[in-house]
Formats: sequence, structure tokens, C-alpha cells
Amino acid sequence: MITRIKGTQDISFDSIDYWQYIEEAIRKITRQYSYTEIRTPVFEATELFKRSVGESTDVVQKEMYTFDDKGGRSITLRPEGTASVARAFVENSFINLGSPTKLYYVGPMFRYEKPQAGRLRQFHQFGAEILGSESALADFEIIEMAYSFLKELRIGNTRLFINSIGCPTCREKYKEALRAYYSEKVTTLCEDCRRRYDTNVMRLLDCKIDKEIAGNAPMTLDFLDDDCKEHFEELKMYLERANIDYDIDGHMVRGLDYYSRTAFEIKSSSLGSQDQIVGGGRYDGLVEIVGGKHCPAVGFATGIERIVMLLKSEEISISSSKPDVAILATGKNEAIVGFEYARRLRKAGISTYVDVMERNIRNKMKHASRTGARISLIIGGEEIEKGIVTVRIMRDGSQYRVNGDYMTNYIVDKLRNA
Ligand code: HAM
Repeated sequence: MITRIKGTQDISFDSIDYWQYIEEAIRKITRQYSYTEIRTPVFEATELFKRSVGESTDVVQKEMYTFDDKGGRSITLRPEGTASVARAFVENSFINLGSPTKLYYVGPMFRYEKPQAGRLRQFHQFGAEILGSESALADFEIIEMAYSFLKELRIGNTRLFINSIGCPTCREKYKEALRAYYSEKVTTLCEDCRRRYDTNVMRLLDCKIDKEIAGNAPMTLDFLDDDCKEHFEELKMYLERANIDYDIDGHMVRGLDYYSRTAFEIKSSSLGSQDQIVGGGRYDGLVEIVGGKHCPAVGFATGIERIVMLLKSEEISISSSKPDVAILATGKNEAIVGFEYARRLRKAGISTYVDVMERNIRNKMKHASRTGARISLIIGGEEIEKGIVTVRIMRDGSQYRVNGDYMTNYIVDKLRNA
């Protein structure tokens, strides 16, 4: 048997209803906030991610699916969506449409990580980005939108963590302080951290091994210049005015190099070790890095698999895609009539499942129960002869014989109480 690749999922019977529930919430929220969808390719030139996400990040160093195509070009399956959005923004001159540009995307991302619950090699993100605004109002809207999305899904037990990592000027001072802090400890650090110390000292804070040392490191907020400080204060004020609670995490620098100023994460206490459900922040330098003019921007992304896990663990009830009616016809002629009934029911907006297996009525009934249909329509020889159908209410097994001409109205009525 050929099996699926490690770290990937077949999403169907046991969770597809959750996915569709989430996708509906995405459509609703993005419409409410008036963001335009963007669909970018799932693969891009490797250079895009190297330049934007950063050469020394774990994502680029260890996690990218990179290969040469038949033309000898280095291609990478996108590990995240923001770099592609920035590239598309520049390539399609969206800036000419007037600022800001508000975009959202939904789709698969690929990271070669060690698979575990909530961490996959192919996972899906819903992300939103505002390009063209430097204002803390944009940061606020992005966070508020992520929040509204979770609220729409009825997810509770979440906590927002915010930080500011400042502009490149503040960051230079911060990096110096970090280097000083780590200078005596560097020999005791893990192999990755020793490399990070030389290549990109801020990435030391991402370490999952030397966590305790990172926990006592200097905080970015102590190195902000006046403008960055004011920007952060403004964001805090907007959050407070909107009653969105937050904690400040002065060590949160996020694992991607393109961030500047605001960084934020929303975590859930209902998940295990992979508790981060939303990640985002400001990336004022990214558009320039991918070849455009300076264009401040901010965004978030959330992992749909983690949201599914949350919905399940918080036992949030969702509507299912089960049929309203199952049509069980016992022969070929009966089935032809059955299909006619199905057409009428579907036209009336009723979800109708037709059993297309030729088997006896007992097995058809068993199958109908399995589909979760609330009502079965039984069509046998007698029904055809008399122009009637037998309507069976699955919940209690009660059966009614109904004139075929009135069947649709009868079913509509029964479904209200079945
Ligand atoms: P990120 O924090 O790397 O940020 O990912 C965002 C979310 O994607 C995470 O919070 C998590 O829910 C989900 N996620 C990440 N990796 C995995 C994985 N291996 N398996 C399952 N879920 C995963 C970004 O990707 C940025 N592009 C976010 C952003 C948008 N920043 C600004 N705009």
C-alpha cells in the first residue's frame, strides 16, 4: 500500500465538518472587515523566502521543501504566506490601487518540521495582511480581526501576547545588548545557538533547548526609541479601549526575520505544547526587501489544523453536513421515481442522499442510519403502484404513507420537528 507522506493528513469524514465551519467563518469575517482574497502559487523562487523569512531562521535553515525543477531553477513550497503576498503586491503594483491594501488568503503551507499533534509538514493557514499603513490603527485592526475570528468560532480560553521589537535602529542596540548577555554563555549553548550567536543573535531567543537562558535575556522594549515606544503605547491604548486583554512578552521576537515593531501571538490553554494558534506582527521592511518601494505593513496568520484541534477539545458543537433525507428505492423502476423525488426535494433546498446500491431494504435502512439522514423515503413496488411513498422518521422509527404529489410539503413540515 502506498501511504501518505509523514506529517500530512487526509481530511474527510472525521473532521471535514470542522473545516467547512472554519471556512464559513473565514468568509464571514473577511467580508465583514472587507478584505480581498488573494491566491498566490504554492511554490515560489527559493530566493523569495531566503531574503524575506531570513537565511538564519529555522524555517529557511531546516524546514523548507526546496528542489530544482526540470529547468534547473531552485523552487520552494511556501512555508508561509506573507512573503508571497509581499511579492504579489510588488509584482502586480497593487500600490496603484490606493493605500492601504487589505488582503487575506487561505491555503496549504509546507514546513519540514518534526510532526506531532498540531504540527504538520503540510498545514493550512488563514492569514490577513494590511499593506501601506504605518499607523498603530492597522496593527489594532489586524489583532481585532484575529480576535473576532476566534469569537465567531466560539473559541474561548485564549490569551493575547504582544511585544514590540522596534525598528532596525532600535534593534541594533538590542542586538548589541543580547550579544553582551550571551557572550559568556555562548560556549554552554546548544550547537544551533552557537551558530545563531554568530549569524543572527536575535534567533537565540527562538531556541527550544536553552529556554531558561533566553528567559533572562534583555527585553526588546527597553531598547525602543521614542517613535517605536509611542507606536506601541498607541496600540495598547486601542486594545484597552476595545476591551481586548493582553499580556506583554518582552522576549517574543517571533521566528521570522521580517518583523519590525509589533509582534503578537494568541495562545490557547486548551492545546498541548503547540499552543500558538495565531501569530503575526508588523513588517515595515519586507516590501522593500522583495523589490518594492518602502511600504509599511502588518498581518496575522492562524493554523487551521490547530483551530480544528481546539474546536474538538473545547467540544464546540457545529452543524454537520448530514443529509436531511435518504431515498431508499428497492428496484430500478422504483429508483427512477426516487431520483424524481430527489430532484423535487433538492429544488426545495433539502439535502437529499440517494442510495445507488442495489440491495435489500434492510441493508438500505442500515446504510441510511449511517448517513445520519433524519428522514428516509422508502419506495417499493407497492408505493409505485399506489403513487405513494413511505416516510420514515429515523429518530423514532415511525412511518407514514404519503401521496407522492404532496411529498415535498410533507417532508418540509416533518423536517421542522424530526
Ligand atoms: P507563524 O507563527 O510561523 O507566522 O505561523 C502562523 C500560525 O500557523 C501558527 O500560529 C500556527 O497556528 C500555524 N502553524 C505554523 N507552523 C505550523 C505547523 N508546522 N503545523 C501546523 N500549524 C502551523 C507566519 O507564518 C506569519 N506569516 C504570520 C504573519 C502574517 N505575520 C505577518 N503576517
